[in-house]
Amino acid sequence: MNTTKNFEYDIEFFDREKEKEEIMNVLRTKPQLLNFVYGPINSGKTSLITNLIENLPENYVVIYINLRERAIPSYDDFLEVIFDVKYEGILTKIMRFLGRQKDTVDEVISDLGKMHKIPIPKGIFTRIFKEEKPKNAFIYILDLIKNIKKKGKNPVFIIDELQKIGDVKTNGYLIYDVFNFFIRLTKELHICHVFALSSDSLFIERVYNEALLKYRCRYLLVDDFDEKTAGKFLEKYGFTEEEIKLANDYVGGKPSLLTTMIDEKKIGRGLNDYVEKGLADSKEEIAQLLYYIKTIGVTIKYQGKDIDVNYENTTEILKNFSGNDFYKYSVITPELCYLVSKNILFVDTREKIIKPQSKFDLLAIREILKEIETK
Ligand SMILES: Nc1ncnc2c1ncn2[C@@H]1O[C@H](COP(=O)(O)OP(=O)(O)OP(=O)(O)O)[C@@H](O)[C@H]1O
Ligand SMILES: [Mg+2]
Repeated sequence: MNTTKNFEYDIEFFDREKEKEEIMNVLRTKPQLLNFVYGPINSGKTSLITNLIENLPENYVVIYINLRERAIPSYDDFLEVIFDVKYEGILTKIMRFLGRQKDTVDEVISDLGKMHKIPIPKGIFTRIFKEEKPKNAFIYILDLIKNIKKKGKNPVFIIDELQKIGDVKTNGYLIYDVFNFFIRLTKELHICHVFALSSDSLFIERVYNEALLKYRCRYLLVDDFDEKTAGKFLEKYGFTEEEIKLANDYVGGKPSLLTTMIDEKKIGRGLNDYVEKGLADSKEEIAQLLYYIKTIGVTIKYQGKDIDVNYENTTEILKNFSGNDFYKYSVITPELCYLVSKNILFVDTREKIIKPQSKFDLLAIREILKEIETK
């Protein structure tokens, strides 16, 4: 088959008009609430935010921090990830030594582009690093944001993969200092819009409850594409009706899997092979988890206690998907928690809905259930 004609192969950012509009509407208001951007894994949260930032008007200055960049076991690692240390030139050093230049943030914001980490002069960073007090780091960041605002720009603060600092401790948990700071920026000072991204909605729920975020935040779901959008996306890259149907039946609307499928087609690989392999991988992964639970036992931390994951309870959860794509839940059990932590299921804690992370997972669950029943 000739696939070389007329189709675009550099995969471009697609759609998300509704989500972008929603975020733009937030940006047009005074900062009041902090915004959680959540959704299944690989649904396109990071892509949406980075695409949006690229297309923002020039008067926005976006501080974008992606905590996925490296492992963050400690507060020091956190500082190294969020700050972009600006080394001072010899002249600045001499001027400061002579007392003619204050150690201010002015020089680091003079050359700010639209998107970056938190710029900080080396001298201030060294001090903050030594002190081990999150409060002082946040005083600096607030000062920086105020200065950006004074220059007539709109600061926006975005933190991606926030669950990665869930276990980092200073005096208490760092995450609560971070969220208190976000509340200060939004609800109290109305100085800066804040967006926090994560695919771990149980983590968001924990932060929501423990950092007392009731009435202080709003949620924006970035879900996989719906069937129609996925079809249009694939059509753009020359997929036939039949191929679109195959994608819809097996892959669903997860953008990352759809882009892989587009690449597979581009390099001339069979799409049937791709979907069969994807389904087989999911099946193997889930079967392996069930095997561990059943034979050697799995213990998880649940509400601070060690709890054994029960095999029957786990399969009961999975049975909900034998006829449905999703179901409404009332409570998060240890088994549910475990399947979510293993990225088999996604919990939408706002809508109280549970669904498999991907269509491959949904189909794999159904096949495994059939096999269990016939045993
Ligand atoms: N709107 C889109 N148009 C085209 N491709 C997209 C789009 N959104 C996502 N993708 C593709 O899917 C991949 C995964 O997206 P992305 O990393 O943004 O997801 P995520 O939700 O941030 O994932 P995670 O849950 O791991 O944080 C991207 O690298 C890109 O190839
Ligand atoms: Mg992401």
